[in-house]
Amino acid sequence: MKLLYLNGPNLNLLGTREPGVYGKATLADIESLVRQRAARSGVEIDFRQSNLEGELVTWIQQARGQFDGIVLNAAAYTHTSIALRDAISAVGLPTIEIHLSNVHAREEFRHRSLIAPVCRGQITGFGVNSYLLALEAFIIDNGDK
Ligand code: DQA
Repeated sequence: MKLLYLNGPNLNLLGTREPGVYGKATLADIESLVRQRAARSGVEIDFRQSNLEGELVTWIQQARGQFDGIVLNAAAYTHTSIALRDAISAVGLPTIEIHLSNVHAREEFRHRSLIAPVCRGQITGFGVNSYLLALEAFIIDNGDK
């Protein structure tokens, strides 16, 4: 199985960005944890970050035929981006929405996700483990086939 991990705006600042909310791990730390866990199950990982909505859209479009699924922390675009939602819908690859923080326990504007209705599911609030739980979910889903 081959999974594409996509990270949206400001996630390149993890480690120093509001550590009380997002923790102290950097995105590179998270990538390394995901890679270690994935390797144990023979899962291939591509791990990317962009601050640009259009770049994320392009990567989702290009994933068709290349990956078995997408793990997406769309960050603030979760709450605003019809373009990301349409890309997920158009491509039709199973996509799991993830967040480090529990978006439902935060400001009201974070309670709405435009991408959730077109995603396989949502994992929110487990910190770095949200990234690992999405991997577990794909491994379980894949085993069910
Ligand atoms: C986030 C939650 C979003 O509301 C926020 O805009 C982010 C990070 C999270 O991982 O908790 O940038 O996606």
